[in-house]
Amino acid sequence: MSRKSTVIRRGLFPGSFDPVTLGHLDVIRRAAPLFDEFYVGVFVNPSKKELFFPEERVKMIQTATADLPQVRVIAFDGLLADWCRAHKIDAVVRGLRSTADFEYEWAMAQTNRMLAPETETVFLASSAALSHTSSSTVREIASFGGDISGFVPPAVASAVYAKYQERNKEG
Ligand code: PNS
Repeated sequence: MSRKSTVIRRGLFPGSFDPVTLGHLDVIRRAAPLFDEFYVGVFVNPSKKELFFPEERVKMIQTATADLPQVRVIAFDGLLADWCRAHKIDAVVRGLRSTADFEYEWAMAQTNRMLAPETETVFLASSAALSHTSSSTVREIASFGGDISGFVPPAVASAVYAKYQERNKEG
């Protein structure tokens, strides 16, 4: 008698996503098909001054991933390990752009493994063309009025420029 498997594989890609970049979206598009349910988790960091509110970051990622049926975008606060345990996450996915990322990612994976041993961390090597892309670079270029179209989707670029215009008006 054949038995139907009811195991649901859940993945989570956590990050600050301030803002989401083409590098993040590359990781999401490549990782999501490996899971039945794939969460993108926007970390709400109370101690960090972010450019975008968490709801704005969630919305931008939802728009950019609207064609991916298994992707759900959520905001989370507190410990990543706690969220993973509460939502039965099998694997946390992180992108590795270069050896410079490795030490930080290694420490984070080891820490999370101590806190939630049932959740694995899986690394995806970033696509070479996007290995120099980061949210902080995008913010810095935009703050000086530079061209960020090679780093983020058009809708995100407009939102970033609008944010800096708003800030400049406020003085
Ligand atoms: O995009 P980022 O800023 O590199 O993402 C880092 C993030 C949000 C994944 C990481 O800081 C995190 O998981 N924070 C939640 C708090 C936590 O669990 N800290 C302990 C593990 S380092």
